[in-house]
Amino acid sequence: MVKVAVLGASGGIGQPLSLLLKLSPYVSKLSLYDVRDPSGTSVDLSHINTIAECQSFDKDQLVQALGGARVVVIPAGVPRKPGMTRDDLFKVNASIMRGLCEQIVQVCPLATVLIISNPVNSLVPVAIETFKKHGINDASRIMGITTLDLVRAETFLGDYMNNSRVTTVGSNQFDKRRMHKVVSVIGGHSGHTIIPVMLLKPMVYMMKPGQYDSFIHRVQFGGDEVVKAKQGQGSATYSMAYAGYRFVEYVLKSIQHESLEGLGYIPAYVYLPGLRNGSQAQAKLGSKELEYFSVPIQLVNGRIDAVDTTILDKLSEQEKLMVEKAVPELIANAKKGQRFIHNAA
Ligand code: NAD
Ligand code: LMR
Repeated sequence: MVKVAVLGASGGIGQPLSLLLKLSPYVSKLSLYDVRDPSGTSVDLSHINTIAECQSFDKDQLVQALGGARVVVIPAGVPRKPGMTRDDLFKVNASIMRGLCEQIVQVCPLATVLIISNPVNSLVPVAIETFKKHGINDASRIMGITTLDLVRAETFLGDYMNNSRVTTVGSNQFDKRRMHKVVSVIGGHSGHTIIPVMLLKPMVYMMKPGQYDSFIHRVQFGGDEVVKAKQGQGSATYSMAYAGYRFVEYVLKSIQHESLEGLGYIPAYVYLPGLRNGSQAQAKLGSKELEYFSVPIQLVNGRIDAVDTTILDKLSEQEKLMVEKAVPELIANAKKGQRFIHNAA
């Protein structure tokens, strides 16, 4: 059985994500940590008669919160307000990420670390470099969660296809429309770095004129849509909790050695040079300098066993152009995260 720690558990994402994890049959202990005391959330969740045992830890108890954790999920940090980019969050959230990873690397160095906080494109490098600095060079257990982009792509494309939305949390069958066979998303997690990839290319020709381009735009800027609608009250929380849960469940299933077959391409934002087939992905993407990219991964026992590069062979000319446009921004975003750790040395 598995202990999962949520860091940032009192937040807009942390609370609904913790609820979903409390419902998961794969979680035996749920550790809720936040600098804003999460004990209310923990007591509330503990009244649900599922197996996960909830414990809360406040700001001085990070070490206890992490003790024995097999999976650590991080939605800690500030969200955007209208007019801000994800990159505007870097300074504050990079310090938070570094501080949390400095403890994770000491207390549960073998845990799988799943990063939600923004900007994902730069904070995954912050986490990887913090681990490296403390002597752990293992890219197979640190991943940025980009599942919300995939969820949006599946939802929006399903809407264009006029299918009804049917989703079941906690079962194998997340998407009864089998949208995961139709679309995936690669790249990064900000604007033009988010690249929807059609797995069934003829779909594009079945769409009305302009529909494909507006679909791409909506996936790339879906985050802004929510930020605007929330009018200063933050960014996506419920959809992110669902997307985060969906990704954590993949990881938990792999820890239980359950088959992930049929769940489609599972992308995550990862450090390519540290992974099997990672350099092959870099070659296919046309840049050795591009070290971080969200690409489908194969999970085994909670770790990335290999990068699945097959999707990169199936890109259309338009998708290749989107990759070309994203690469310089992704390189710059990753370097920013790496510099943050090295210049602080
Ligand atoms: P929020 O402000 O509602 O919650 C953040 C929580 O983090 C707060 O409870 C805060 O107390 C806590 N926190 C701050 N510093 C901490 C620390 N050092 N240790 C532990 N907890 C700490 O924000 P939110 O809406 O939950 O968003 C959280 C982050 O997730 C933001 O950076 C947001 O941009 C990002 N996000 C990412 C995605 C994605 O697709 N990856 C989607 C939505 C939001
Ligand atoms: C999203 O895509 O909804 C998140 O990254 C939050 C944001 O700032 O847009």
